[in-house]
This record gives sequence, C-alpha cells and structure tokens, in this order.
Amino acid sequence: MHPLRDDVYRRPLATALERLGIGPGWRCVDVGAGGGDVSVALAEIVGHAGRVYSVDSDPRARDEVAAAAAAFSQVIAITQAGEDLLLPEPVDLAFCRFLLLHVIDPGVVLKRMCRATRPGGWVVAQEPITSAGRVGGLPLSMPDALHPDVGAILPALARDAGLEIVDAWAEAPAGVGEGPVASYLASLTGVHPGNDPVVLPPLVTVVGRVGDPSAGR
Ligand SMILES: C[S@@+](CC[C@H](N)C(=O)[O-])C[C@H]1O[C@@H](n2cnc3c(N)ncnc32)[C@H](O)[C@@H]1O
Repeated sequence: MHPLRDDVYRRPLATALERLGIGPGWRCVDVGAGGGDVSVALAEIVGHAGRVYSVDSDPRARDEVAAAAAAFSQVIAITQAGEDLLLPEPVDLAFCRFLLLHVIDPGVVLKRMCRATRPGGWVVAQEPITSAGRVGGLPLSMPDALHPDVGAILPALARDAGLEIVDAWAEAPAGVGEGPVASYLASLTGVHPGNDPVVLPPLVTVVGRVGDPSAGR
C-alpha cells in the first residue's frame, strides 16, 4: 500500500513533493523520521538509484524504520540529533515534519538542514499550529511539545536560516465520527473525539531553496 494514502496529512506532503520535481536518483534526508512513513514515501519516489537518510535522535526509530523500509535498500537509518546533523554526502532535499515543535531551538535544526543540502537544493519543513486545531469547536493543546505553535513562525525561521522561500501555506485535515482524522487525534492526544467534529492542527509547509554561492559571480 502506498504510504501517502494512509497518511492523514498526505495532501500537504504530496503537494510539497510535487512542488520540487523530486524524482529517481535524488538524495534526501528525513530528519525526525519517527516510524519512517515519510522516509518510505521518499524511497518510493527516488528509487534504488537514490538515497534516503532517515535520521532520528531516538535509537528505537532505527528499528522501526528498518522494519518499515525492509524492501528499500536506499533507506539508511541513522541515530543522530537534528542539531548535530552530519551526512556522508550533500543531499538534494532535507525534509522534516512534526519535528521542530519538539526540539529546543528550531532555528538551529533548520540551519543544520540547510548545511546538509547542496547549493540549489531544497529544504522542506512541515510543522503544526497546534492551538489552531479544534475538537468540538474548542482549541487543542499539546502541553508536552516545546513549541506547539512553531508552524506560525515557520516562514520567518526558514528565512532566518538563510533559505529562499519558494512557497509556504497551511493546510488542516478535518472530519467527524469514526475515521482517520479521529484515529489520528486519539493517537496524538490519547483522547477519542467521539462524535465531536475535529479540525486537526494546521500544518504549515515551507518550501525553501538553499542559495548557490556561485550564483551572480
Ligand atoms: C512526532 S514524531 C514525527 C515523525 C515523522 N516525522 C512524521 O511526520 O510522521 C517526532 C520525531 O522527532 C524525533 N526527535 C525529537 N527531537 C529530535 C531531535 N532533536 N533530533 C532528531 N529527532 C528528534 C522524535 O524521536 C520523534 O521520532
């Protein structure tokens, strides 16, 4: 089954990837990869000629990614903090989703992602505005996250990291009753919404380009 089809936030992911023209042979890093859903989606696109570094600070993620990506030898799982991001080669795309809300300084991680990317390559970040989500009309909260509303300042963080912002937007899945939106909320918060209508936290996407130092010479 295609991983994007199962992913409740699949639309912003698909839109962002289409925006880049990503294809076979690309080298990518998925920072804060978790269970590796996005890493596998990237691996399907870049194929065996490409490479996907699946990076997470939690060593348990390596096993999860290894299981999820068993059929994709192009996925390399690495235990590393985003703040220390260092890869064996420059990548064409550095990606993160639902990562920056959990790190101490999101700007530091974005700058490391820029440094890991080749000149002219892409950095894509997708981060939520948690408090703009709604359950039964009331705002969501995520007290465990260090920066639950980091999406609201993501374009400025990307600019300050030195990226040229090519595109930026926000998008939120919504639903009522049983279904993927209710299940996702339950997995996120431990609370099942029952029959209350749900708007999941809007995900702000920033598509940025790393400057080419040789441009304009
Ligand atoms: C909410 S999960 C997101 C998983 C995945 N990106 C997705 O969108 O489904 C956040 C992940 O970031 C990882 N993480 C948290 N802080 C990190 C850091 N400083 N560096 C790298 N990974 C980190 C966590 O271990 C966790 O796997």
